[in-house]
Amino acid sequence: MLIAVASVKGAPGVTTLALGLAALWPELGAVLVECDPDGGDLAARFGHHPDPGLASLAAAARTGLTQVPLAEHVQRLAVGANVVLAPPGDGAAAAVQTLTYSGGETLRRAGDDQPVVVDLGRLSRGGPGLALAAVADHVLVVAGAQLADATQVQARLEWLRPELSGRLWLVRAGDGGYSSTELARDLGVPVLWDLPHSRLGAGALTGQLRVPNWRRLKLARAVRGMATTLTTAQPASILPEFDPARQLAVRPVVEGRHR
Ligand SMILES: Nc1ncnc2c1ncn2[C@@H]1O[C@H](COP(=O)(O)OP(=O)(O)OP(=O)(O)O)[C@@H](O)[C@H]1O
Ligand SMILES: [Mg+2]
Repeated sequence: MLIAVASVKGAPGVTTLALGLAALWPELGAVLVECDPDGGDLAARFGHHPDPGLASLAAAARTGLTQVPLAEHVQRLAVGANVVLAPPGDGAAAAVQTLTYSGGETLRRAGDDQPVVVDLGRLSRGGPGLALAAVADHVLVVAGAQLADATQVQARLEWLRPELSGRLWLVRAGDGGYSSTELARDLGVPVLWDLPHSRLGAGALTGQLRVPNWRRLKLARAVRGMATTLTTAQPASILPEFDPARQLAVRPVVEGRHR
């Protein structure tokens, strides 16, 4: 299974969630591939060298091999996740671009063999991240729940929906603002889960804090819940057909209420 995690603006916690999914995925063999064209963060956060990683994976993909095993490019992070680390800065963009060749075949095939989570950073119209999202089984767009966050997502649905129809989910990050029900109704996109604000959980997943029991925190429980939903539910039963007539304008929320 191939799971893409992305945002459309800001830094709502994509890398943190993607790493949590790889660490807590209920099936064996999960790998996170850092594919943010703006550069990877996890090597610096966990004190690793980014090679082997995305650059070596892209180089292997460029040779035209039909099957490129991820194992040779994976590093094990202290938080308990296997990750293909991206270099920081511009170096990542060329490697991400290479992985879009042949319709994202390298990642798609890897996802046939094992659970693969891909951190795509911020999606942009026509960008390489969108091309990789298009081959994923599920695409999780992480966004805050304030009016400004919702309108940023809504403004991009025109090109997100045709590419990702039937596989697009919102993950509502943080507290306050729109409820999941309101977001799903007003944007016409199902909300997979609420990602709670958790200083300790995020601290563990960004390598900033040593939290031995982080897998029991509310953030980890939410991440596990998402993974279980994605692995056990039939897409047809959890993703309602989008009816454009149901999409309403996003309405301002004041103290939790629309007006
Ligand atoms: N659920 C959370 N609760 C509290 N803090 C969080 C949570 N998720 C992320 N953070 C914090 O927010 C900051 C940004 O997180 P992260 O790097 O995951 O965002 P991102 O969306 O990947 O950003 P970018 O687009 O810059 O890559 C980090 O300092 C992290 O600790
Ligand atoms: Mg990130």
